[in-house]
Amino acid sequence: MNSYAVDYSDVQGLLRFGYAALTEASFLLLRIRDARDASAWLASAPVTNAVKLDKAPPTAMQVAFTREGLEALHLPPNIIAGFSDEFLSGMWGEENRSHRLGDIGKNSPEYWRWGGSEKVPHVLVMLYAQKGQLQARREAIQDPAWDTAFEIMDSLPTSDLQGVEPFGFTDGISEPSLDWERQRTSADQVAYTNLSCLGEFLLGYPNEYGKYTDRPLLPNDSTSVGLPEAEDSPGMRDLGRNGSYLVLRQLQQDVRGFWQFADRQARSDPQAREQLAASMVGRNRNGDPLMPLSSQPIDGVKPAHPSNQFTYDSDGNGTRCPFGAHIRRSNPRNADFPPGTTGFFSRLIHNLGFAGTDLRQDIMSSTRFHRLLRRGREYGPRLSPEQAVQPDCSDTGEHGIQFVCINANISRQFEFVQGAWIMNTKFNGVTAESDPLLGNRQPIPGCAVTDNFSLPQEGGLPRCINGLPQFVTVRGGAYFFLPGIRALRYLAMHSPPT
Ligand code: HEM
Repeated sequence: MNSYAVDYSDVQGLLRFGYAALTEASFLLLRIRDARDASAWLASAPVTNAVKLDKAPPTAMQVAFTREGLEALHLPPNIIAGFSDEFLSGMWGEENRSHRLGDIGKNSPEYWRWGGSEKVPHVLVMLYAQKGQLQARREAIQDPAWDTAFEIMDSLPTSDLQGVEPFGFTDGISEPSLDWERQRTSADQVAYTNLSCLGEFLLGYPNEYGKYTDRPLLPNDSTSVGLPEAEDSPGMRDLGRNGSYLVLRQLQQDVRGFWQFADRQARSDPQAREQLAASMVGRNRNGDPLMPLSSQPIDGVKPAHPSNQFTYDSDGNGTRCPFGAHIRRSNPRNADFPPGTTGFFSRLIHNLGFAGTDLRQDIMSSTRFHRLLRRGREYGPRLSPEQAVQPDCSDTGEHGIQFVCINANISRQFEFVQGAWIMNTKFNGVTAESDPLLGNRQPIPGCAVTDNFSLPQEGGLPRCINGLPQFVTVRGGAYFFLPGIRALRYLAMHSPPT
């Protein structure tokens, strides 16, 4: 194999597959008790790679580490220092970061069940299995070394809601396509496309800037034998290559609160209730976007899912899909505005093209630097919107998403999408509101309110919904390094000396 081709046997499968056929899953959060036994287990752990098989495997397992986990495995500090700053700080590590991510008020790390400074996991083991096989898989990995190696801090459940997230909307539709064949040249790609350079998701490959993301590179000596070579630094070995960063957040959803609020706003008219909820998401419950689908693939790239073939080109005033809708915030496609573009007139100037020669480039190219590969799973029992609006609805279960996304640059991808687009109360010309699903509604000093949702109307003032409650609460979270498989075996070598 030439060094240019991707070695799928070295990539963890989650980067290539969502394991949709493996409908049972559980995410184990572990603390390392004994580094030597943990290393022994990791050295031969049956981690599933990204090689495509004729028949999907009946089970799969993925492994990832926090910074604290790498330290517990005795990886030398100078090597750990080569990882990105945000991975090293952790999701909860700085007040400023918590503010940007919206982790304040009820979302504050001090209330998290796991993560935060008190309960930091070391290792994440993600188990996937066909129906009925998860328990057996879990027992099989817990070999004699397991109990002395690890303490199970938490075991995050998931449930199979058949591709529908707890609020009742089809999920897992829009995903970037990865350029596994390495055909895409990054420079001058201005038009919106769903195809992303491999380096946006895999460390050790060029990203959308044509650059390699920083990661630990090691001298080519006897200690680094087995690691892949660094493509951009001849003579060095690459601990990051074929790996990535994985963001995990446990997000609890108030399903009853969401539908009862929509119902009150709709004066209990079921159709108006559906429309309002769909406007908040940007798609109908069946997954159809509020924008018309294009008859042609966008920029020649056919999306994996047919309901993803659209842009916001024809909706410059947000009357079809509100600017603040969840999917328009989390991926504005070709309708993002440069910072500082607030208010009707400013937007108009930009729309008319009077704002400078590079504007079109600004609008269209920025989204390609902020794509996320989402791999989350729902948890909790199903509660339909029709049940949720009943005044006597007895809902005792907890609902939510174990939100997982993979990206090579946590700050430019996850943190940007979460902070600048989803949580920001000034986005795309709208103010005093944040994401209608995810916003924490915390008042900001100097800002009147943060709990609006505006729906632009054809030929009139926007309709403004006020007083949105908080529907989603963060229950835990952490940043992990998802190593390539050779890097995983390398990490397993760092047990303490006898
Ligand atoms: C409880 C929390 C959440 C719920 C209920 C939710 C729900 C949804 C739904 C229903 C869709 C449309 C279906 C699809 O395209 O797959 C979607 C899309 C998306 N969500 Fe979320 N989401 C949540 C959290 C998040 C978070 C935390 C992020 C990122 C920080 C995020 C980023 C995205 C992105 C990037 C898309 C695709 C947008 C597009 O390309 O059109 N979501 N979400």
